[in-house]
Amino acid sequence: MLQQYEKLKNLLASAKKIVFFTGAGISAESGIPTFRGKDGIWNKMKPEELANFNAFLRNPEIVWEWYQYRKKIVHQASPNAAHLTISELQNYFDEVVVVTQNVDNFHRRAGSKIVYELHGNIEKNYCINCKKRYDDVNLPVENKVPTCGCGGLIRPDIVWFGEFLPEEAYSLSETAAETCDVLFIVGTSAVVFPAANIPYIAKRNGKFLIEVNIEKTELSNVADLSLIGKAGEILPQILQLVKEEKNYGKNES
Ligand code: OAD
Repeated sequence: MLQQYEKLKNLLASAKKIVFFTGAGISAESGIPTFRGKDGIWNKMKPEELANFNAFLRNPEIVWEWYQYRKKIVHQASPNAAHLTISELQNYFDEVVVVTQNVDNFHRRAGSKIVYELHGNIEKNYCINCKKRYDDVNLPVENKVPTCGCGGLIRPDIVWFGEFLPEEAYSLSETAAETCDVLFIVGTSAVVFPAANIPYIAKRNGKFLIEVNIEKTELSNVADLSLIGKAGEILPQILQLVKEEKNYGKNES
């Protein structure tokens, strides 16, 4: 463990490109519920009734309303110390890439520039018929699913169960995992594939993996370092370490 920590410090001093693979846990401290675990959404709601295309066709109003409700929660909340720290780390590395399974838009709101959203974004929508986009707009809601000019229903741009991931975002994420110096896995149970392939791709390519989670996960034994604690507390400590290591590097040269 101590040895791995020393390795991390050296890596942070020399790393040019770092990747953050994030999940619902990074937004938990902003008050957004996670999917699994003690207060997880999927304990109370059935994903098969809400997060799939057939459910939307069967009950468009219920599914639309559910995502409007989640959007409202997201709008009332803000990015937390973990999102802000990742954004601040952009000042210390050539490239900081965020690969996220979250749809809450918090990484962008926190100022991260390179964000690959593998499961969509709650601010975006499109017509199921002609695919016309309705992004970042206030659609007329009032419990009714808005319709497109072509007559098709407008759906949230969220990847539902059984659907493909956005091709470009996934392929860019794969490349980021293959070419980074360090990959952080933050606040994810890492059980939903293909998104959860990303850390394994980094591992296969010999990259250093650091997990930050309040508990052990499937990935804890795969990671080179597993840090147990809240993302909003641990990531600022990593930033502090980066500051120390980068300054130390400067004094040395
Ligand atoms: P999960 O709800 O499966 O996992 C959240 C993880 O965050 C758990 O491992 C928690 O222990 C951890 N956690 C909670 N609070 C934390 C904190 N403050 N700091 C650090 N870690 C914390 O969420 P995801 O892994 O994101 O997909 O779930 C993956 C996908 O499953 C989601 O994108 C969603 C869901 O079904 C779709 O909607 C398509």
